[in-house]
Amino acid sequence: MASQIAKVLLSLDAEAVGSLKEGVNFKKSTEDGKCYIIFKSNNDFKACKNQCKHQGGLFIKDIEDLDGMTVKCTKHNWKLNVSTMKYVNPPDSFLQDELEVSMLDDGGLQLVELSPVDPWMADPREPLELQKGEVKVHSWKAEFIKNERKKLLNYKATLVKSLQPRIYCPFAGYFVEAHPSDRYIKDSNIKNSAEDLNALINKLAPAIKTWTPQPGAVLDLGLALRDPTNREAITNPPASAKIYKDSWEFDLYVNELKSAIKSDIFKHQNWIQFYYTWAGFQNYNLIVRVIETDDKFECITDGYDYLVDFLDLSFPTKRPNREHSYLEIKNRIGVMRYVVLHGCLWDDLYIGFQNRISRDPDIYHHKYRHFI
Ligand code: FES
Repeated sequence: MASQIAKVLLSLDAEAVGSLKEGVNFKKSTEDGKCYIIFKSNNDFKACKNQCKHQGGLFIKDIEDLDGMTVKCTKHNWKLNVSTMKYVNPPDSFLQDELEVSMLDDGGLQLVELSPVDPWMADPREPLELQKGEVKVHSWKAEFIKNERKKLLNYKATLVKSLQPRIYCPFAGYFVEAHPSDRYIKDSNIKNSAEDLNALINKLAPAIKTWTPQPGAVLDLGLALRDPTNREAITNPPASAKIYKDSWEFDLYVNELKSAIKSDIFKHQNWIQFYYTWAGFQNYNLIVRVIETDDKFECITDGYDYLVDFLDLSFPTKRPNREHSYLEIKNRIGVMRYVVLHGCLWDDLYIGFQNRISRDPDIYHHKYRHFI
């Protein structure tokens, strides 16, 4: 297991510590201009980076919060209670990563970042390969996903309740990661079902009608709005309705993806420059490392591995020294090259089962994903 590294991000001398007021304090490092939040309560301190977990926005004081414990993101109004480090909007959702507050003998203090935050993160514990095709999901990961799904279910039901629609039906398709190479995702990415969500909404807000889109189920919207008591308006699927297929025809799709791999353009390294220049995404302080892999996300000898600097659309051989967001994406070679060849959406490269991503900082790059 790799060891945990401690890095001092901000130091305050005794005088600066003495001037911290009870409640929320915003502090900026004079060295690198980065911003931090320190919460003081009875000489006890909590601290975090001033960086929203959603998309990295900056927090300011939440003037609606009379208790003085909450800050509000300037981007999309998420709210964080810094006395608990829990986000209160969205409710019951995320925890902010805390910095260690280390008190010094001379009365000063330091904000220290431990990396990784939890020692067990030092060992990323990739899925254990048991036998060919058999993958075990670690119990800590399964537990984490289960809890996150539960929170999401509650969040959605509460949201629907607050919006008070007359009829609600979950908007999502039914899909399953059926290909054997996606087995790990299938086993670990347990999804909330539309029925569970509707059942919770029925419990929390019985006046809201719900409908689950399943084969053979009917929602006659006109009728349901005109006469909600009419039993014809919303019907359930027949008992024999099948949600998922029994067997799958993969070759058609997989062969098409694979056909892109040998395309002539990939014989010439300058396709990289040509492609990203064509795409035109730039003026965004993000470095992306793209690694082409096999189906198991292992590097392959004839796959490309390159960096793109989206600030000025250059292609450095190593990460620049300036502060930047960093994304490392391992993409299956067929998918990567198919997207390039056909000018497809980057959505295809940034979606769960087709890649493995690590982000520093761990924020979602909405602009990047939705550019093309
Ligand atoms: S709410 Fe903070 S970045 Fe979106």
